[in-house]
Amino acid sequence: MRKGTSKPIAVLRGEASIPGDKSISHRALMLGALAVGETCIEGLLEGEDVLRTAAVMRAMGAKVEQLGAGSWRISGVGVGGLAEPDDVLDIGNAGTGARLLMGVLAGHDMTAFLTGDTSLRSRPMARVADPLGEMGARILSRDGGRLPLTIVGAADPMPIEYRLPVPSAQVKSAILLAGLNAPGETSVIEPEPTRDHTERMMRHFGATVRMKKEADGARRVTLVGQPELEAADIIVPCDISSAAFPIIGALIVAESEVVLPGIGLNPHRNGLLVTLREMGATIEETNPRDMAGEPVADLVIRHRNLNGVNVPAARAPSMIDEYPVLAVAAAFASGETRMCGLNELRVKESDRLAAILDGLMANGVDATIEGDDLIVTGNGTQPAGGGTAESRHDHRIAMSFLVMGMGATQPITVDDTSPIDTSFPGFAGLMNAIGAEIEGESS
Ligand code: S3P
Repeated sequence: MRKGTSKPIAVLRGEASIPGDKSISHRALMLGALAVGETCIEGLLEGEDVLRTAAVMRAMGAKVEQLGAGSWRISGVGVGGLAEPDDVLDIGNAGTGARLLMGVLAGHDMTAFLTGDTSLRSRPMARVADPLGEMGARILSRDGGRLPLTIVGAADPMPIEYRLPVPSAQVKSAILLAGLNAPGETSVIEPEPTRDHTERMMRHFGATVRMKKEADGARRVTLVGQPELEAADIIVPCDISSAAFPIIGALIVAESEVVLPGIGLNPHRNGLLVTLREMGATIEETNPRDMAGEPVADLVIRHRNLNGVNVPAARAPSMIDEYPVLAVAAAFASGETRMCGLNELRVKESDRLAAILDGLMANGVDATIEGDDLIVTGNGTQPAGGGTAESRHDHRIAMSFLVMGMGATQPITVDDTSPIDTSFPGFAGLMNAIGAEIEGESS
């Protein structure tokens, strides 16, 4: 356990280099390993989750080397060319790593054993195992489709057409990754669009991926199977989900101004910015550009008094990881913020709905859950703080409450900040360099 305390500060000011995007980093390692030739990656996130994925791809025969900070080279083995791992694959805390990897494994004629940490072993995997089973993989898991599990990949994977029962980019991506080694066309139909990093990166490596609107408004994503993926260099944009923490910090601490260069602004990831603008924030986007098929810009954020808003359920997939820190912003806003349709938050690294609610209430905020909606009521002043928030093995819960401590009237303590290393190594140092006062201790 590593306890951390964040004290109220006068101002957050300066420029900060946010680490690489976690979603894109996992995909770069996996697709790099499935391409033919050498893929160089710059700006790879070197958090624990992504390092696990690097180790797993290495264990299956891809050459994965670190050349310098954030700079990696992968010698890929081609679609279907991975070798059976000779030990259990331990993917740690990484839900994205686990689910995408299941897709990769399902398309290979071999047997693999997959496990993870306490948090990951409690998360549902049937949502991925079911469609992969339809493609011909055999998966034997614990009760409720939980890890550890054994996966016997399909010798001849079958292409499928699958309508997502939950809006999940992880499920979509697992199916597409298995579909790489299937003949013919694999289609995923998404009633609500989710992040499309896999589609963009598959195209970047030369695959044909088509997108079409269905009559009912759903999005049909179709991959033409058995492409020859060709190695292609990737610069990973900075992670909008990590940028969310200094963004909210700047908004809630008076007089603040923070500059965040090179942030990934995938249109299916920008729900937080849309919501904050509705709450009254001005967030400037400058120098828009493209990095390996992903839109990127520099962001400038200044302190603003925020107003409560209604966040519709339809927006949830585009900001699913940002609700913990949005709830913190809502605690500083005037009036009620209702965040609708958050059922999926119950099956993240923790039950995030419960973790957010308990952390807010322990720090003097008026918050409640009605069905799948989270309601936070602020009065436009600083919340009291002074309490302890439990991180529950969840990096985003830990960081959210450390951000809240910067703007509250009393310091806020997080019982265990160690999960932060899964996605944002150096978080406290980076925030302290622009004015935060986060102190930690180990136990
Ligand atoms: C991710 C998708 C989301 C998100 C996760 C990363 C991805 O999960 O919460 O942190 O990289 O595809 P779901 O697909 O389960 O919503």
